[in-house]
Amino acid sequence: MKKHLLIIFSLTISMFTASAQKFENWAQTPPMGWNSWNKFACNVNEDLIKQTADAMVASGMKDAGYEYIVIDDCWHGERDSLGFIHANPEHFPSGMKALIDYVHSKGLKFGIYSDAGWQTCGGKPGSRGREYQDAQTYASWGVDYLKYDWCNTEGLAAKGAYLTMRDALHEAGRPIVFSMCEWGTAKPWEWGQDIAHLWRTTGDIYNCFDCEYDHGDWSSFGVLQILDMQDGLRQYAGPGHWNDPDMMEVGNGMSVNEDRAHFSMWAMLAAPLIAGNDLISMSEETQAILTNKQVIAVNQDPLGIQGFKYQTKDSVETWFKPLENGEWAICFLNRSKTDQNIEFDWSKENVQDELNKLSPDFTQKVYQWSDLWNTKSKGTTKKKLKAVLPAHDVLMLRLKMN
Ligand code: GLA
Repeated sequence: MKKHLLIIFSLTISMFTASAQKFENWAQTPPMGWNSWNKFACNVNEDLIKQTADAMVASGMKDAGYEYIVIDDCWHGERDSLGFIHANPEHFPSGMKALIDYVHSKGLKFGIYSDAGWQTCGGKPGSRGREYQDAQTYASWGVDYLKYDWCNTEGLAAKGAYLTMRDALHEAGRPIVFSMCEWGTAKPWEWGQDIAHLWRTTGDIYNCFDCEYDHGDWSSFGVLQILDMQDGLRQYAGPGHWNDPDMMEVGNGMSVNEDRAHFSMWAMLAAPLIAGNDLISMSEETQAILTNKQVIAVNQDPLGIQGFKYQTKDSVETWFKPLENGEWAICFLNRSKTDQNIEFDWSKENVQDELNKLSPDFTQKVYQWSDLWNTKSKGTTKKKLKAVLPAHDVLMLRLKMN
């Protein structure tokens, strides 16, 4: 009897110790990369992906920290008689494995897309009921990142569906960063930390600064609308688990000011920096925005603290983000369509990060600041800051003590 109990006990223990989990120690800073959807939607093929990988290296983006080339919806062909998924043979004649090998040969990583439902949003085969088989396929191809969407999931509970794929990826054995794309509907920030490395917090982004685009039974949202939807979520982000306000629209048609503001705010939010433009033919301005190493350093700061809005005055918002070594980033965002004067008298401002119990304490401490978009511009918090902020633009500074 005792022996039986012992066997049951040790089986129970081993079940627990062998139980699946997400791959730990990945995405310790917000993932950086490129995704095909915002610009190319379903027009994806192997030449586009290869040239994009080449451009990520040639443009200096790889050097600046971008790592993942993620192919979104519509890469799929059919499942074979055994249920294994294959890439569309017309658009990917060399097959997915060869394409991924190419991306790896550039020193980059590869991300793929699937959906928890029976079909993807683009009507391609989803992973429902095939999670373990698809995870094995992705691992055998050398996939490093999975974006997992939420279309056609009638009757499924989000947490369970994402857990199933997490466990399937774990079972397949190849470390894969897991990106949940559930649009924030079931509040994934409340339960996602042990399941995924990042989760979408909103519906889809649209390439406008301040608008909502009505598609009929759903909407996509401009930069400011998405920014406002991040309110109250910062406590859920940190190393290995990030709020994802969606892939960027930098270079997809907004003005340079707007692109700069969009990029800066995603940096302040500790958001994944996933470019969504055409890297092969981007303008110099777009390239300069996407590769601004100072702004990227704010986003990639090892503390992994999501920034917070300190105040709003005359449609100018002031955001703070604590950084390592007692440094801070501050970003003034002009939401309005006209230029705005800003004045910030440091010693009169009581800035508190209540969540992390941190304060720059301007009454006691003096910081030197540098302007992250205009490197020649520097100053000190001893002196009141005065500036004119153009419409839909930012002033972003890094504060350092002497
Ligand atoms: C959803 C996602 C998008 C994109 C498309 C693909 O809308 O939210 O990011 O992946 O599906 O069809």
